[in-house]
Amino acid sequence: MTNYFPTKLAKGYAFCNRKIELTRLKHDIDTVAPALIISPRRYGKTSLSLRAFEQLKISYVQVDLYKAFCEEDIERYILNGIGVLLGKLETAPKKLITLAGEFFSNIHINVSIEKEGLKLDFSKRNKSPVDNILNALEKLHELAKKRKQKVILYLDEFQSVGEVCSNHAIEAAIREVAQKSEYICFVFSGSDRHLIEQMFNDKKKPFYNLCDVISLDRISETDYVAYLQKASKARWANTLLQKTIDEIIRCTERHAYYLNKLCSLLWLQDQPTLNCVRTTWDSFVIENKSAVERELALLTINHRKILTHIAKRDGVKEPFGKLFLSQINMSNSSAARAMKLLIDKDYIFISPDTNEHRVLDPLMRSVLADF
Ligand SMILES: Nc1ncnc2c1ncn2[C@@H]1O[C@H](COP(=O)(O)OP(=O)(O)OP(=O)(O)O)[C@@H](O)[C@H]1O
Ligand SMILES: [Mg+2]
Repeated sequence: MTNYFPTKLAKGYAFCNRKIELTRLKHDIDTVAPALIISPRRYGKTSLSLRAFEQLKISYVQVDLYKAFCEEDIERYILNGIGVLLGKLETAPKKLITLAGEFFSNIHINVSIEKEGLKLDFSKRNKSPVDNILNALEKLHELAKKRKQKVILYLDEFQSVGEVCSNHAIEAAIREVAQKSEYICFVFSGSDRHLIEQMFNDKKKPFYNLCDVISLDRISETDYVAYLQKASKARWANTLLQKTIDEIIRCTERHAYYLNKLCSLLWLQDQPTLNCVRTTWDSFVIENKSAVERELALLTINHRKILTHIAKRDGVKEPFGKLFLSQINMSNSSAARAMKLLIDKDYIFISPDTNEHRVLDPLMRSVLADF
């Protein structure tokens, strides 16, 4: 059965719209301008990037830095990623092992070939992670230039570099290469929007003004309606009633992950009515309530209070107005402080459609509204 609503990456048929963002990212890659893709969690950064790379048919590697906890981890992930790119530039195993052996020899990293591709051995390396990253990136650039073949280095969950490396030396090394590179296209993204913005928007840090920043918002209602109808016809040979679609959009607020999650459950059943949508969403909320409660328990009382009131009122237009402040029983300054953190950490967003402060995660909104 076709999976119209994946809860992992959206590929092929399941990729809906994002035409403007795709054109922009492909243009950045064409012109070798470093790009930063930014959005709250699970809006579609990785799906968009991979879609652009595949359409352009340029060799790429996705380096996921989520599990990098020290500079050596970052070095290992980036150099292994470069190893994957070497494997794409040189597919014949014998030639690849010679190429990679030479490539890494001056930084004393041994290479071997295994079933999954190149394996790098870092045990004898004698320089710092920063030196090795800079050296390997410069050599990759030379190689790509010699072969007149562009490559894409996609550094995902890039906020880890800022967290791990407090003196910004790795960022400075990457900037040095990214700025002058004609053959390595750098694409950055990360799921902690706040940390990423601190790295890229601070004049004192190496990544300031380096990238074309592509911000992802939610997919528009028009695009989702067209997609839902297409998927409904493919599944049940019939379109959905408008009120059923409205209910899917009301429950998920067009959050890419939750819309797919809800619809993946609905598309297993008979064609849904409005009530089916409601009961399926309610059971999903009940199943996931305790995970949300655990996350909420990490917040302070003031933060939880604001979130709960906003969820119960289904959005608030004037969060610092007298009425709301008296309802939450907080002073203007405490509410402003708490709200800033909630927005920075993507618990609250300001809806571009209604200008209301709303709970960003629709599952969290539903759990809180029920309290
Ligand atoms: N263009 C799209 N059309 C339809 N669904 C999409 C689209 N982009 C992403 N999604 C869906 O949204 C969810 C999140 O996608 P993805 O992992 O690409 O987002 P992300 O922003 O990289 O997430 P994270 O912040 O966790 O890294 C997935 O369920 C995916 O299938
Ligand atoms: Mg991602």
